[in-house]
Amino acid sequence: MKVLVIGGGAREHALCRSLSLDPDVTALYCAPGNAGIAEVAELREVDALDGDAVAALATELGAELVVVGPEAPLVAGVADAVRAAGVPVFGPSREAALLEGSKAFAKDVMAAAGVPTARSYVCTTPEEVDDALDAFGAPYVVKDDGLAAGKGVVVTEDREAAREHARGCDRVVIEEYLDGPEVSLFAITDGVTVLPLQPAQDFKRALDGDEGPNTGGMGAYSPLPWADPKLVDEVMATVLQPTVDELRHRGTPFSGLLYAGLAITGRGVRVIEFNARFGDPETQVVLARLRTPLAGVLLNAANGTLDLQAPLNWHDDAAVTVVVASANYPGTPRTGDPIEGLDEVAAEDGPEAYVLHAGTRREGDRVVSAGGRVLSVTATGSDLAQARERAYKAVGRIRLAGSQHRTDIAAKAAEGR
Ligand code: AMP
Ligand code: GLY
Repeated sequence: MKVLVIGGGAREHALCRSLSLDPDVTALYCAPGNAGIAEVAELREVDALDGDAVAALATELGAELVVVGPEAPLVAGVADAVRAAGVPVFGPSREAALLEGSKAFAKDVMAAAGVPTARSYVCTTPEEVDDALDAFGAPYVVKDDGLAAGKGVVVTEDREAAREHARGCDRVVIEEYLDGPEVSLFAITDGVTVLPLQPAQDFKRALDGDEGPNTGGMGAYSPLPWADPKLVDEVMATVLQPTVDELRHRGTPFSGLLYAGLAITGRGVRVIEFNARFGDPETQVVLARLRTPLAGVLLNAANGTLDLQAPLNWHDDAAVTVVVASANYPGTPRTGDPIEGLDEVAAEDGPEAYVLHAGTRREGDRVVSAGGRVLSVTATGSDLAQARERAYKAVGRIRLAGSQHRTDIAAKAAEGR
């Protein structure tokens, strides 16, 4: 099978790594990719937001499956253009991707499907914002309605800060604060059949101890030893299947990856958000544990034949990933600095620990930083403690001027807390 992956972050590197290990994959392309992905896939240039250009590239390459990684192309309708060109595509239509593209739309779908989520108001005027803030009280949760690369949400005790964030958005969702640990659960679906993956936990805040601003994600681990073993079944029954059914009944079936961001509250599981694609960095740990070859599963979802898919097999191993970010991330990141130590990780730590590239670029014989999140250092081990130790040992070999990373990824879970 010839596969084309669209995107160029650590999630796409993880996808390409898994696809490159799949014996059914005979050719692997990635557009636009990055310096790390170039080691496992052939890179092509494309404007990932231009559906006609992506469809033309897929046709030119003879791709038998296109996997769209990030949300922006999905919300722009890239999967529709590829599908219209007759090429199977893993990723939802523009209309179904609104589940991520509009928080207000997601709330409407959840209400119709009876999916448990935070109570919320959609506000467009300062008066509505004030009323909603008063209705829920602190801590305040204010979400930009549209896509914001993980940075559109402010959770704060400070009413003025909440009002100010709302002022910067055209339309905001203000909602009840949900207390409790967060879980990311991904499901692969063809619009009818839903196949859950293993749960993971992401660390959204920039600094240790969950301090600092929200980011796209600073690290992740899987499995979750503290979680109820029935969690996946419960979320399947109360969240994933009802949401997929609701979108199908609306005439806009969702096929691709449905990402449920969940809070495990004292009153039960609640959806914090949906995404319409694999999460980054959770994908790095989930795919590290997946034993079933990936391409066939994604193709079954793309073709509407997921009911024929054999159950997924998983490694017993645990996995941890630690994101190395540029100075100043999640603000405007410093870029263009050389990254050293990548060869040392490959020579000393593999295959249990490896580096997945996010914002990197090749410049002559050097690899330099080219974005906010630069690398996602991933490791497996017999338990979280070992995976964590291996991941941080590899992180310690990486030298990038001004870089930052959290030192507490998976720490509590590894200690059984
Ligand atoms: P989102 O982009 O909706 O996932 O929000 C980003 C992060 O903000 C989440 O991972 C949570 O940590 C936090 N958050 C979002 N909504 C809520 C909520 N209703 N209650 C508490 N925290 C929230
Ligand atoms: N890790 C959060 C996200 O992918 O949105």
